[in-house]
Amino acid sequence: MSDKAASPPAERAPSPKAKSKSPSPPADAPEEAAPEAAPEAAPAPAALPANHWAQFNRDDDDDDNTDADSTLGNDVESSTASISSSILRYRTLHGRTYHSERGDAQYWGANDDRHNNSLDMLHHVFTLCLDDKLCLAPIGNIDLKKAVDIGTGTGIWAIDFADAHPEAKVVGTDISPIQPTWVPPNISFEIEDFTQPWTFDDNSVNYVHARYLVGSVPNWDHMAKQAYRTLAPGGYFESYEASPNLQSDDNSLALDSAIAQWGPLFYEGGKKIGHTFRVLEDNLQVKAFEAAGFVDIQTRDIKCPFGNWPADAAQRAIGEIGEMATMSDLEGFILFMTNILDWSREDIIMYQMQLRKEVKKRTAHPYYRQRVVWGRKPEDAAAEA
Ligand SMILES: C[S@@+](CC[C@H](N)C(=O)[O-])C[C@H]1O[C@@H](n2cnc3c(N)ncnc32)[C@H](O)[C@@H]1O
Repeated sequence: MSDKAASPPAERAPSPKAKSKSPSPPADAPEEAAPEAAPEAAPAPAALPANHWAQFNRDDDDDDNTDADSTLGNDVESSTASISSSILRYRTLHGRTYHSERGDAQYWGANDDRHNNSLDMLHHVFTLCLDDKLCLAPIGNIDLKKAVDIGTGTGIWAIDFADAHPEAKVVGTDISPIQPTWVPPNISFEIEDFTQPWTFDDNSVNYVHARYLVGSVPNWDHMAKQAYRTLAPGGYFESYEASPNLQSDDNSLALDSAIAQWGPLFYEGGKKIGHTFRVLEDNLQVKAFEAAGFVDIQTRDIKCPFGNWPADAAQRAIGEIGEMATMSDLEGFILFMTNILDWSREDIIMYQMQLRKEVKKRTAHPYYRQRVVWGRKPEDAAAEA
């Protein structure tokens, strides 16, 4: 994948004002057209009690209960028990693996192959939403010697970025060692907990990238301050986040539907673990960038469709890949959070089945909001760091 971020700024400089992309519905469903409204924060529905989902009959017409079946038994601890390194001592939950205990880190997603495949698919959603760009900050204007990707996940963004920028050394950090070993020569991965002081030297990095860390960050100010400290003057920090709240502009999404309840589920779980999912809703990225001292802070807001309902082919592809990424591992997305919220196994299974059924019906036109924020460390900031 090419990174067009190094193009001349005039070609690609986004408006400092929020810009929205509005997916439109399929031509064959004109009565369900989504208005071209700006992506304002719609109030999320109240969270329904977990036992709400038990009313749905398990023996319904839903013939695909892959998620339900996969959660029964099959604990994988034995496969990692012989590995002495503590970072490989994964925690397990109903047969799914999660990162090992580290400091204040508390990540809600599974870290096994099944979930990592979903993360890789979401990488394509994110880059397509940026018109096939890997970043929006004008890094074509700077001498890019070192770039860092915080919470790199499978490292897929960092690898694409390293390929696109052979002139730069790229480092990806994460608490889970889930990155591949066959990678471009200019990239390396390090195990590092971003809730702690970062190990990079002051003024040593030219670009810091952090994507899809919603629900993982206990303190956004700390995140931006660490980025500011490690960046050399003139360097850029870029944060790309998504809201978990699925909404529709045409009332096609019932507030008590399993799709609309996805957001409240994560909001409630986030409150319990002290890692908020209300990053866009509370504008935490911009506030943290400002508090840290970044200048020329710019924002791009995006409406990202979920499902194949948009009429526009590019938007439909984004919606389809996002749906595939989510539905191929529903459990890996919700198991930790539902467990935190004390849902029973029955509640979890019934919620997944209901969600699958609603998605297959294709009557709703959901989308969720994304926000990219980037800013520069002032050129005269060296003395402060
Ligand atoms: C949703 S994934 C996103 C991965 C990647 N940034 C992407 O966009 O594909 C979040 C990642 O953050 C990592 N993470 C969560 N908490 C962390 C922490 N405290 N320190 C380092 N990494 C963390 C998780 O292990 C996971 O790989």
